[in-house]
Amino acid sequence: MTSDFTIRTKRLLFRPFQTSDAEVVHRLAGSHDVASGTFLPHPMDRQAAHNWITERVEDQAAGRGVTFAITLAESGQVIGSIGMEIVTAHEQGRLSYWLGRTYWNKGYGSEAVTALVEYGFDNLHLHRIYAPHFHTNPASGRVLQKVGMTHEGRLREHYLRFGQRIDVEIYGMLRKEFLNSGGRVKERNDR
Ligand SMILES: CC(C)(COP(=O)(O)OP(=O)(O)OC[C@H]1O[C@@H](n2cnc3c(N)ncnc32)[C@H](O)[C@@H]1OP(=O)(O)O)[C@@H](O)C(=O)NCCC(=O)NCCS
Repeated sequence: MTSDFTIRTKRLLFRPFQTSDAEVVHRLAGSHDVASGTFLPHPMDRQAAHNWITERVEDQAAGRGVTFAITLAESGQVIGSIGMEIVTAHEQGRLSYWLGRTYWNKGYGSEAVTALVEYGFDNLHLHRIYAPHFHTNPASGRVLQKVGMTHEGRLREHYLRFGQRIDVEIYGMLRKEFLNSGGRVKERNDR
């Protein structure tokens, strides 16, 4: 993948992060609300945001993963991040994503996960894409349901975050399920 690779959806444009995004990453990902559903460093000052971007760029160069800045296509405003850790030996991708607090509940999360799942199967030729989410973060689970992933199970008290032991829910999709759906992720609205 070239470093200027972008993905375009109806409302969003995904592009690689640059270190000049450190200020906006600090502002959006520094929020406790955003950090508490993730393992983002917290507190996240500008230097930590800069380091976080550098690590993502290095992981990408080493083939360990891909990360995109999620931007609003019209304005170019950065609103969040989405990426996948990749284990090439297993043709497997593990999704992670976050949006700034003011951008929640507008469908951007589902739009972004849909795009990355399609990118993972179409461009990265993965066999399996999965995503863990904290049990305490039902909005993320809802996003994964909406993009048609299957709930595969719960890992009890799997993580320790901010002093709390947290159950983790696992959602996944196999390549054959993606292809059986016509090679496009169709948003499901059943609950
Ligand atoms: C998880 C996250 C990316 C979701 O993004 P989003 O843009 O708000 O997602 P969408 O708007 O596409 O969908 C959210 C869905 O969750 C639902 N939802 C929101 N809060 C909820 C709650 N407390 N309980 C249950 N469902 C909830 C919304 O109603 C919506 O479902 P609907 O379309 O059926 O109404 C965003 O909340 C976020 O960045 N959180 C902090 C970081 C994080 O947790 N990342 C995920 C790590 S696994």
